[in-house]
This record gives sequence, C-alpha cells and structure tokens, in this order.
Amino acid sequence: MTGSLNVVVGITGGIAAYKAVGVIRSFVLAGHHVQVVATAGALRFVGRPTLEAISRNPVHTELYEGVAEVRHVAIGQAADLIVIAPATANTIARLATGLADDLLGNTVLASTAPVVIAPAMHTEMWQNPATQANVATLRSRGVTVVGPASGQLTGADSGPGRMEEPETIVQAALALMDGNQEPGDLAGTRIVVTAGGTREPLDPVRFLGNRSSGKQGVALASAAVRRGATVTLIASHLDVPPPDGVTLVHAPSAAELQQAVTDAAGSADIVIMAAAVSDYRPAERQDAKITKQDHGAELTLRLVQNPDILASLAASARPGQVIVGFAAETTPGHDELLRVGRAKLARKGCDYLVVNRVGWNEGFALDTNSIVVLARGGDVAVEASGSKLDVADHILDAVTGRASVPAR
Ligand code: C5P
Repeated sequence: MTGSLNVVVGITGGIAAYKAVGVIRSFVLAGHHVQVVATAGALRFVGRPTLEAISRNPVHTELYEGVAEVRHVAIGQAADLIVIAPATANTIARLATGLADDLLGNTVLASTAPVVIAPAMHTEMWQNPATQANVATLRSRGVTVVGPASGQLTGADSGPGRMEEPETIVQAALALMDGNQEPGDLAGTRIVVTAGGTREPLDPVRFLGNRSSGKQGVALASAAVRRGATVTLIASHLDVPPPDGVTLVHAPSAAELQQAVTDAAGSADIVIMAAAVSDYRPAERQDAKITKQDHGAELTLRLVQNPDILASLAASARPGQVIVGFAAETTPGHDELLRVGRAKLARKGCDYLVVNRVGWNEGFALDTNSIVVLARGGDVAVEASGSKLDVADHILDAVTGRASVPAR
C-alpha cells in the first residue's frame, strides 16, 4: 500500500464541489497530506473554512498570493498526486489547452505527478463533442478520468454527468499510485455491466422471476474494476454482494433496467448485458394482493412482451462503442449451441454474444461457467471454462480485442 502522499485536491466551480469535502476527508483519514487548490468558482459553492478544517491546511486560490515562495509552481512540484473533483467542462477545456491563468492551471502544468479528474456536468455538456475531444486529449496524455456516473443531476434531469462518489474517486486514485503506479490495462475504459435476474411485479408481494444468480455479471464487474476500468453495475436481483469500487444502480424490473442502462450507456465505452431480462411481464400490475377467493381453482395470467433492451442498445450504439449480449441456451450439443448463438447474434445486432449452456444443473448459481464468445459475423473470439472470475477475464479480453483468436 502507498505511504503518506502529498495530494493536491483541485476543486472547480460546479454544484458537485460540496462532494469534494468527502474526497479530501477520505485522503486525510487514509493518512495523506492534502493541499486544496480551489478556483474562485469553487468557493461560491463550498466555504473556505470547511475546506481548511477538513484538509487541515490553508486553502490556495490566488495566483498572486505567496509570490515570494513561488507558490504557483511550488504546489505542483511538491505533489505526488493531483485529483481534480469536480472537474467542470470549463476546467477540462482549460487543462486540455494547457492554460495557466489561475493557480490550478499553473499547479497542473508545473507537476509531473499523475492527474486524476472526476468530471461533473449536465449530460448535454458531457456529451458535447468539444468536451469529449478535450477528455480524449487528456486521456492521451495519461490523465485518469474517473466517471462521470449516470443518475440524478442537479435539476430534474438525469443521465451521465454526475460526479463519481468520493470514495470511488479516492480508491481509483490510490489504486493508480499502488503497484508501481501501473494502472490496470483497462484504466480509463468505462464499462457498464448489467447483472442478475429481473423481477416483473404481479402484485405488491409477488413477481415473475428467473434463476439467474448474477454471479457471472458480478464477476465481470469485479474483474473490470481490478483491471482499472470505471464500472457501473446495474443490478437486478443478485444472490451475491456487488463488488467494491463500482457505481451501483438498482434496477429490479426490465423497465427499470432499460431506463438505467440507457442512461449509463451514453458515456460507456462497453456495455455488457449479462442480466437475465424477462422476455415478458404481467400485462397488469395489481395494486392489491391476488387472492384465492377472487380466482378460485384456476388463475390465468396475461403477459406482454418486454422491449429487447440489447437490440435497441445495439441499434443506437455510438461509433466505436462495444455492445455485448449474453445467451443462455438449453440447446443440447456444442454445434447446435453455436448455431443458435450465431442466429441470435445476427438478430440482436450486437458486437459480441457470450453463449453458454444452461439446464437444471448447468450454468445458474454455480461458481463455474463454460462459454463461447462469438464476434459480429459469427467467428469464435474466445472459448473458456473455469471459475466465473477467470471466465470474466477471458470475456473482457475478447470484447476489448485483447484475446488471441482460439485455434479451431
Ligand atoms: O433473447 P434472449 O433473452 O435470449 O437474449 C439474451 C440477451 O438479451 C441478454 O444479453 C439479455 O440481457 C438481453 N435481453 C434484453 N432485453 C430483453 C431480453 C433479453 O436486453 N427483453
């Protein structure tokens, strides 16, 4: 584990500035020395006394303060790590251009320390090509981008643009400093994983569900976090706890999952639909419990089809975005499994399909799995069996183009 670090926490002028207090506090409680460099805008959102009390140091804002000690470069030169949270669209643009007309700009330019930014802004600003180009420039210079997460924004709107939770930012930054400062091979990659089985409500106490345990999806999220990716886990019903280090979104039903994954996909490089989404839901959701008294010996349920989330994600994917589906089939025989898988891949229009056999004693709830990853067009990208965690690494290798093609 990293020893005590000199951490510069840069705070810029967005509503999420109040959450920077949590970032500072986590670093201080972990034994690190924190210098806060706040822009003038940041101090309109969070008070200097709060930042000084939590960081246990004076807050720096002015370029023309401390000139005798050459503060505009001294803070950056002494830093082991710079974390800018929140990073507004404006600050990201200024960093990409290398502007140095405020203390934070000078600090970053004068430093050779790793820089981590946690963007926070409205979805439209985040998705604007100018912001995306600036973020790409910063990534190409080795800046680590944590988030943004997807969810409720400051106004009534929701979508990608929320600052990541302080603990996630601090963990990502410290992980970067661990292990000879080698970030994982997926650092900077934003992955959305759906996991678990959906539950389609019938009445206040009952649902239609399936046997998915969520283990393979959770293993994928966990492997992706270990390899440095920024991971959003959209969880339907899980039999296992979600891993640390993910942004967790609960989505019990197909409709909730569709909303959550559509929001999160906007800023994702890879979307992996490992959730077992119910193909049908009850046509009506009763407000009161369905009773024997009302229905007698026979009860007929009318079901309607759910939208195919995977197919619509694939149809609206951005250029370069990778969409991965799963197919759990009861088909007997390997060749038949591949034939069914290839047909499903073509139907869904996704980039990869992870195919596995399921049955009463296969696939579900076990800690092992046996899969084939088919690439668009139907070629086998990877075949793997073993623990769900090992299989997860093979799947991640395949969908990021890191797998060597298996001999057939
Ligand atoms: O068609 P089938 O249910 O076998 O497809 C499985 C894949 O499609 C999985 O990746 C699952 O997450 C996704 N799916 C979906 N929306 C549905 C049903 C399945 O996205 N309504």
